[in-house]
Amino acid sequence: MQGEKAQREHWGTRFGFLMAAAGSAVGLGNIWRFPYLTGENGGSAFIIIYLICILVVGLSIMVAEFTVGRRTSLAAVGAYKSQNRNWTFAGVLGVLSAFFIMGFYPVVGGWSLAYMLKSVTGLLAAPEAIGDVFGAFISAPIEPLVWTLLYMLLNVVIVARGVSAGIEKASSVLMPTLFVLLVIIIFKGLSLAGATAGLTYLFKPDWSQVSGATVLAALGQSFFTLSLGMGCMITYGSYLKKDENIPSNAVTVVSLDTLVAIMAGLAMFPAMFAFGLEPDAGPGLVFVVVPAIFAHMGAIGPLMSIIFFAALTIAALTSSMSLLEVVVAYLIDERNMDRKPATWLTAGVMTVLCTLSSLSMGALSGVTLFGVGFFDLFDILTDKIFLGIGGMLLAIFVGWFMKKEDLRNEITNDGTLTFGLFEVWYNIIKYVIPVAIFIVAVMGIIDIPQRGLMLFGLAIIAVLMAFSKKL
Ligand code: PFF
Repeated sequence: MQGEKAQREHWGTRFGFLMAAAGSAVGLGNIWRFPYLTGENGGSAFIIIYLICILVVGLSIMVAEFTVGRRTSLAAVGAYKSQNRNWTFAGVLGVLSAFFIMGFYPVVGGWSLAYMLKSVTGLLAAPEAIGDVFGAFISAPIEPLVWTLLYMLLNVVIVARGVSAGIEKASSVLMPTLFVLLVIIIFKGLSLAGATAGLTYLFKPDWSQVSGATVLAALGQSFFTLSLGMGCMITYGSYLKKDENIPSNAVTVVSLDTLVAIMAGLAMFPAMFAFGLEPDAGPGLVFVVVPAIFAHMGAIGPLMSIIFFAALTIAALTSSMSLLEVVVAYLIDERNMDRKPATWLTAGVMTVLCTLSSLSMGALSGVTLFGVGFFDLFDILTDKIFLGIGGMLLAIFVGWFMKKEDLRNEITNDGTLTFGLFEVWYNIIKYVIPVAIFIVAVMGIIDIPQRGLMLFGLAIIAVLMAFSKKL
């Protein structure tokens, strides 16, 4: 085992790395959350703000995370710690974020898995009952938990096999499959009469719906969808070979993620408008409105529905694998654990959190903290607070605490590559991102109803910071 540890694992091929990193980025964030956020925030006005966040903030931070990971050859906590012990807390915050996201993400993954089966067992036969069926399903005590468990098991089996043999191999098959499945759904949707209204909605902005909270939602979503602000891309970058071109890989991953988000919109909105369904159904959009679309399609409906939920499950799986890997890599790097026990232990703790989340839809719906149940608690804490601040911390760390020449050497592979935008990137990281996130966070806190939760999240970060050297 010692020998295994001395030799850090690496991605086998560039394609494999790209599929794994894009697999981490493309997930429920693209297919489940992006469409409903778009629906709730005024269609393409939201999309435009989101694209600006992705291009300016997201892409720069992705380059920074890959760079820090490859430079240190360590996962999030070790990467920060090896440079400056006062910053260990920022890595630990990432591990904590991974736990919290994995406290609700696999619940939705489980729903998706269940809906593949439900697609052919009568769900679509009674379109008017689809909403009630979803409500009854997620609030039941046992059934959704069993699916979550099954979903978690898929993650464990893959991650326990390792970086190249597990994560890379699975992603290389799953991601191209996801792409093909989405294309099928899009073609079907666009062929329906009345589909153009959906396109107008997606591509014609309504600025009246935009507020501070919209910008916070767009920024939070850009971090969430690109798997940034919690050390995931630091971890994936730490397995990157020294001759890989970091900026060009980052551009590819960001482009693929954005492409899939738009594809998910195209897969849903045209068909939704064609059948006169409302786009602002919130988190239930994918599980209530989308099956209703398929119910309207007649004989081909169940097949389309299986394809859709298979795509959703695949997207979720390649992302949750990366979240599990963030914690597993930490345990391997910093706690000298072997991969298999680390994977099982981590997944076990995550399953406990998921149980709380799943039950918060039913049996535990009365139990709230800061006015929200466990599911929303984990979601808001990460998406609205930890990821943005995690991204800001990373930018401050890279911009102000790492040597500029070290960064230049790492990004240009010791001068063998040219990166003409280095100065632009460096200034965005050093000045623009810290200030921008600070402003957006303050605006968001003013607009957001769960103020107590915000303060709780900030208090957690302050405590971690105070004890950074002991972590
Ligand atoms: N990017 C994933 C999605 O869009 O669903 C979610 C995610 C994965 C967030 C990994 C953070 C992360 F580290």
